[in-house]
Amino acid sequence: MIKDIINKKRIGLELTKEELDYFFNGYLKGNVKDYQMSSLLMAICINGMSFDEVINLTDLFINSGDTLNYEEKFGTMCDKHSTGGIGDKTTLVVVPIVASLGIPVIKMSGRGLGYTGGTIDKLESIPGFRTDLSEDEILESINKCGACITGQTKDIAPMDKVIYTLRDVSGTTSSIPLIAVSIMSKKIALGASKILLDVKYGSGALVSTIDEAKELGELMKKIGSKYNREVRYILSDMNEPLGMSVGNSLEVMEAIVVLSNKIDSKFKDLCILLSSNMISMVKGISLEDAKKLAINSLESGKAYNKFLEIVKNQGGDINKLDVSKNIFEYKALKTGTISKIDALGVGKLSLSLGAGRVNKEDNIDYSVGVILNKLSGMEVKKGDTLMSIYYNNSNFKIDDNIIEIK
Ligand code: URA
Repeated sequence: MIKDIINKKRIGLELTKEELDYFFNGYLKGNVKDYQMSSLLMAICINGMSFDEVINLTDLFINSGDTLNYEEKFGTMCDKHSTGGIGDKTTLVVVPIVASLGIPVIKMSGRGLGYTGGTIDKLESIPGFRTDLSEDEILESINKCGACITGQTKDIAPMDKVIYTLRDVSGTTSSIPLIAVSIMSKKIALGASKILLDVKYGSGALVSTIDEAKELGELMKKIGSKYNREVRYILSDMNEPLGMSVGNSLEVMEAIVVLSNKIDSKFKDLCILLSSNMISMVKGISLEDAKKLAINSLESGKAYNKFLEIVKNQGGDINKLDVSKNIFEYKALKTGTISKIDALGVGKLSLSLGAGRVNKEDNIDYSVGVILNKLSGMEVKKGDTLMSIYYNNSNFKIDDNIIEIK
């Protein structure tokens, strides 16, 4: 039976609900082995899935764990999810903007596995910041300051956890239906009726082209409508790192600069776009009107104050944020214009510094990372500092092609 199911998918046939159930729940029970599941996942990667298969698998993932419903208490809510990238700290800016407008936000985020820390790791670089709020503490936080950013309280889609771990080591992460099932099962289980997805493409993302990102976004939207969720997605470029910093404390500092409305940047623009979409969905207003509200929240200091409130409520002290004192300045070898900064290269560099994890158990060094002193399109002179590398261990590796000058 196990072999028959793998063979059926290998020759491109559609699996029934019963077959998917037998195989995936069998895996959770230990009756289907890692090598058999890897084989099926690879067949899915190669042959894809029908929409019926996608929905049946999403159901299995959702039903493998708990489901939440905070809307019963707080009314319409909007969740956000990014498909991940290098230097992605948008949650740190977007949640305070949205919450500053009286829209309750419960953001349950994850840790990173891969090149950089996840949102939870970034927040834990703020000394004292607690990311393990209990359900009572979440309710208290919403009543007190309207928002919280925390790890998951319950076991949400545990089937995704085990399958994702296997995908990560079996070359099966980039399958569009598998990504869509993985993301949407978690978002649906978390309960918000509005979902905003930031779908990334490029060298630092799971899918490389804008067309693939669009296909993924459309599929997730279609899954959402099957579960009565309003889903919007935006497509964003992840060929270059997002913003000027990569690394946990450094990214929190950059988020604070944006929240203080001190600089304009592509990163800030993306945060405004994401916030505007969330505000527009919850308030049922046009994107244009929502954008005005988001910008006003930043300009008036409301978003920054909300961030401080959230940090204080969760026990953090931003005055104690720490970065390494050891800084290596990576200089331009020639004069010219920066034509490319490779997101994947910067991600690998930050991993070698200790800013991310190779294995789940690895400890992160919050104080290390990279600041990009120059961005794409800027003119530089030979000897200018291109990157400031914050390190504690000098064994980091800089790929020769990280920054291209023409
Ligand atoms: N994020 C997820 O949660 N799952 C994927 O498969 C990819 C990105």
